[in-house]
Amino acid sequence: MLHECLAPSVYLETGVENGRSFKHARGAEIAIGIDLQMGKVPPEYREWGRLFAMTSDDFFAKDRFEETCGARRIDLAFIDGMHLFEYTLRDFINIERRVHAKSVVLIHDIIPINTKTGARLRQTGTWMGDVWKVMLALKRYRPDLDLAVINAGPSGLAVVRGLDPSSRVLHEHFAEIIADLTDMPLEHGFLDQLKVRPSLPKSRRSGICSRPDR
Ligand SMILES: C[S@@+](CC[C@H](N)C(=O)[O-])C[C@H]1O[C@@H](n2cnc3c(N)ncnc32)[C@H](O)[C@@H]1O
Repeated sequence: MLHECLAPSVYLETGVENGRSFKHARGAEIAIGIDLQMGKVPPEYREWGRLFAMTSDDFFAKDRFEETCGARRIDLAFIDGMHLFEYTLRDFINIERRVHAKSVVLIHDIIPINTKTGARLRQTGTWMGDVWKVMLALKRYRPDLDLAVINAGPSGLAVVRGLDPSSRVLHEHFAEIIADLTDMPLEHGFLDQLKVRPSLPKSRRSGICSRPDR
């Protein structure tokens, strides 16, 4: 739905796996997929996608985005790589630097289905890890962002808008955020504490679905 509504020209996904989400970016002018294990992606996706077999940290550190897109900016990003919150937060920081004011960033797996699946140590097949802590970090350090949560099964999707590519707040507080949140246990109802919207009411869909100005 978001791909249809937003019709991004520049799409970027961290953690592509077998391309189940990435395939929706086929219509984008530039569809960037990053995964350290690119073996599961159907080979034909290379005909239209720019696939990078590396970690997302390396992708940004080695200026692969700039090499691929020049001065263009990301319209829609989907963060779904390593499920430890510091990785997700770094992906968010790196992506936000490369967006414009109307871009949308999606973060997968922000609602763990139980304590085990929401733990840092992987003990289960289905594993959301502690990506949920990114929501706490964004809420605490970036009250300027517009955070919405879609109750997409099984583990939720955050929709982040109101992005500011000039913001350095998360980068500057990165060590402090990691120190504060790394050992935090998952408490039931943490989304209530965050006061984020629990799901996307119909009235808000039109806002989400307005095409970014380019
Ligand atoms: C949950 S899967 C992605 C699913 C995919 N986005 C989809 O919607 O079908 C997570 C993927 O992240 C990749 N991954 C793990 N750590 C990564 C990292 N540091 N950088 C990039 N990709 C990573 C894994 O290899 C795995 O394929």
